[in-house]
Amino acid sequence: MKKLLILIIIGLMLSSLLRAQTYKNPNIPVKDRVEDLLKRMTLDEKIGQMNQFLGLEYLKTNRANLDKGDAKNKNENVFYPHTPISQIEAWTKQGIIGSYLMVFTAGEANRLQRLAMQSRLGIPLLFGIDAIHGNAMCDNMTTYPSNINAGCSFDPELTYKIARETAEEMVTVGMRWAFNPNVEIARDARWGRVGETFGEDPYLVSVMGEQIVKGLQRNLDQPTDVLACVKHFVAGSQPLNGKNVSPADISERTLREIFFPPFKTGIDAGAATLMVAHNEVNGIPCHTNKWLMQEILRKEWEWPGFIVSDWMDLEHVWEVHKTAPSMKEAFFQAINAGLDMHMQGIHWQDMVKELVQEGRISEERINQSVRRILTTKFELGLFEHPYTDETLRAKVCQNEQHMSTALKAARESIVLLKNEGEILPLSENNYRKILVTGVNANSQNILGDWSNWMGDKTSTVLKGLKEVAKNTEFIFVDQGINPLYMKEENINRAVELSRKCDLNLIIAGEYMPRHDWNNRTDGENLDRSDLNLVGLQDELIKKLQATGKPTVLVLINGRPLSTEWAAEHIPAIIEAFAPGIQGGQAIAEILYGRVNPSAKLAITIPRNVGQTVKVYNEKPAAAFHPFTLTDDSPLYPFGHGLSYTKFKYSNMRLSTNKTSKDGKFEASIDLSNTGTREGTEVVQLYIRDCYSNVSRPVKELKDFRRVSLKPGESQTVSFTIPAEKLAYYNENMEWTVEPGEFEIMAGSSSADINLLKKSITVK
Ligand code: BGC
Repeated sequence: MKKLLILIIIGLMLSSLLRAQTYKNPNIPVKDRVEDLLKRMTLDEKIGQMNQFLGLEYLKTNRANLDKGDAKNKNENVFYPHTPISQIEAWTKQGIIGSYLMVFTAGEANRLQRLAMQSRLGIPLLFGIDAIHGNAMCDNMTTYPSNINAGCSFDPELTYKIARETAEEMVTVGMRWAFNPNVEIARDARWGRVGETFGEDPYLVSVMGEQIVKGLQRNLDQPTDVLACVKHFVAGSQPLNGKNVSPADISERTLREIFFPPFKTGIDAGAATLMVAHNEVNGIPCHTNKWLMQEILRKEWEWPGFIVSDWMDLEHVWEVHKTAPSMKEAFFQAINAGLDMHMQGIHWQDMVKELVQEGRISEERINQSVRRILTTKFELGLFEHPYTDETLRAKVCQNEQHMSTALKAARESIVLLKNEGEILPLSENNYRKILVTGVNANSQNILGDWSNWMGDKTSTVLKGLKEVAKNTEFIFVDQGINPLYMKEENINRAVELSRKCDLNLIIAGEYMPRHDWNNRTDGENLDRSDLNLVGLQDELIKKLQATGKPTVLVLINGRPLSTEWAAEHIPAIIEAFAPGIQGGQAIAEILYGRVNPSAKLAITIPRNVGQTVKVYNEKPAAAFHPFTLTDDSPLYPFGHGLSYTKFKYSNMRLSTNKTSKDGKFEASIDLSNTGTREGTEVVQLYIRDCYSNVSRPVKELKDFRRVSLKPGESQTVSFTIPAEKLAYYNENMEWTVEPGEFEIMAGSSSADINLLKKSITVK
C-alpha cells in the first residue's frame, strides 16, 4: 500500500515535471515551447498550420451568391462550393487548419476556436482580418478615415492612436492579426487601391506604416495587441497600365529607393508578418520570388517574421502568371522561395504533403515555416487565452473615445485644395438657403473601401451640415449614390432648385462600397483608364456653375481625380478622400470654419491621366521637355493644402554650411500666423542632391512637423538633419553619402514657389 502511494506520488511528480517542460507551460521560453510542440506534430498538422481558410459564414453567403459567371471565375479554388462546411469543421477539429480570415463575429471565432481546441494538440487558430482603417469589415465598428487620409494628416501620433484603438476593437471579435499597414507607394492614380495607401512618398509612408505597426502590436504581450502585416511586397502600386496584379517592371534601384523603405521601416518596427504582392516584379511573381523573400527579407534585413500569400495568389502563379504548369508546382515554387502561409484553400494540404513525400520539399523546410507561425501564436498568448469575451464588443466598439478619435482624424485629413475669393468658410448669415447635391451628399460611401456601412452611426455630409449649420435651409437634390447611374432629370432638377438658393454645394467623387462589388468605381480591382469624374458629374458641376450662384465642390474618393475643369472654374474645392464614420461632420465643420483645415496632399493630383507617373520626387530630366498642348504642372502638388489663416515662412538658416558624412546639422525657419484665425501648418522639409553620380530626385521629403499657431504668433521650427538622410545608392548600389552640394528646402508644399532654400556642402 505504502509502495503504491510512493509510486503514485512519483508518477504525479514526473507528469507535472514533464508538463512543466511542454509547450503547454506558459512559463518556459517561447522558443522551447515551439520546439516541443513541433516535435509532437505530424506532417499533416504542420502543413495545416501553413494554411488559411475562409470563415464559414462568409463562405455560405458567397456560395449562395455565386452566379454562373462567378462560378467560372471564382471556381472551387475560391469558395470551395463542392466541399461541405462539415468537412471544413472536421479539418479544424483534426488540427489541420492554422488560420481563418473573413470571420466577422466573436460567436463564429469562438465556435471555430472550440473545434481547433478539440484537436489532438489543441493548437489555437489565428484569425486575420482586413482592418485597414479601423476594423471596419465588421459591423458596428469605428471606421476611421482611410489610410490616404492618414497620410494627408501628416500626424504620426494620431495614426498610432487609430491603430491602437483598431486593435482594441479587433480583439472584441477574436481577431489577432490585421492585414495592415498597406505600405505601398502609390505612384499611379489609375490603380484602384491608392486610397488604402499613405500616398506617394517613401518617407511619409514609412513614418505612417511604422506607427500602424507599433500601434497594432505594441510589444505583442497584452490581450489587445495584434499582429501587423506589412503589405504587399512589392511594387504592385506601379503596375503596367495601373491595373491591379499587372506586371511591375521596375529597376532594382527604384525598388530600393522608392518601394523598399517602408517595408524595411515596418520590419525594423517589429512587424510580425508580411504579405506578398499579387504582381510579378521584373518577370518573377512576388510569390515565387527567392530574391525578395530570401535575399532581401531574410538575409539582408534579417527578418524573423512569417510571410503570408495574398488571396489565391499561389493559384495565380499557375493560372495567371503562367510561370508554373500546375497548382502543385506553384505551391512548390512558393515554398521553395520562402513563403510560410497560404491564403487560402482546399488543395494545399494534399499537394504539399505529396511534395514532401516525393522528397521535393524537406520536412525541415516545412518546420521553418511552422516555427515562425507557432511563435506568433505563443507570443500572442493564444494557447492560454484562445477565446474572446463576447460581451466586450458592446463596451469597446464605437465608444465615445474611439468616435472622437475618428472625428479628430477626419478633421485633420480633409484637404482644402482651392479657396478663391475666400468663399470659404461659409457664413450662415450670407447663405441662408443652400442647394446640396451630388452622389456623395447623403451617402455612406464616405466610409471608403474596406468597410461595411454603419447605418445611423455614419455621419453623411448632409447629416453633418444639418448638425453644424442649424439656421441654414438645405435643399437636397438626390442624384442617387452611384455616379454610374446618374439621371439627367435629377441634374435638371438641381439646376432648377439652385435658382431659389444662395449657394450650390456639390459632393461628388467615386463609389467604393464592397457590398456592391460589381457596381463600384474605386477600390480594390477598380483600376481606371482615365481619372475624370465618372458619369454625369462634370455635367452637374458645369450646369450648376452656369447658374451664376457661388459653387463649392467637395470630393470623396480613394484615388486622386483629375477635375481640371472644376479646378479652373469652381472657386472652392475640398478633397476629403474617404474621411470615415465622422466624415460628414468634419466636412461640415470645415465648410463652416468651425475647424480650420490643416491637411496636405499625401499624393500629387494629376491634371490628366497622361501625367501618370507625375510624382513630386521625379528625376530632373523628367521635366526637361514639358508636355505640348497641355500644362505640364500637376493639378495640385504633393504637400499642397490651404488653411483659412495665412502662414508666412521666413529666415531660413542652416547651423552650418559644411558637414561631414557622419555629421549632422540643423535647418530652421520662422513660421508666423499672419492671418486672423488660429491654424495648424504642416512644415515640410525637403532635400536635393544638386549633382550626383547617379541621378537623384528633384526633391525628397525628409521630415515634417505639424505646428499650431494663434493669430499673430510666430515660432521657430527646427529640424535636425543627420547627414545620413542625404545618403543614396551609388553606382555600385552602396548606401552612401556622396560629397558635394545639397539644397535644403522648407515650406508649405513641394511646389518650388512655396519653399525657402539653403545650400550645404558635404565634405
Ligand atoms: C488583398 C489583400 C487582402 C486579402 C484578404 C486580397 O485581395 O489584396 O490586401 O488582405 O485580399 O482580404
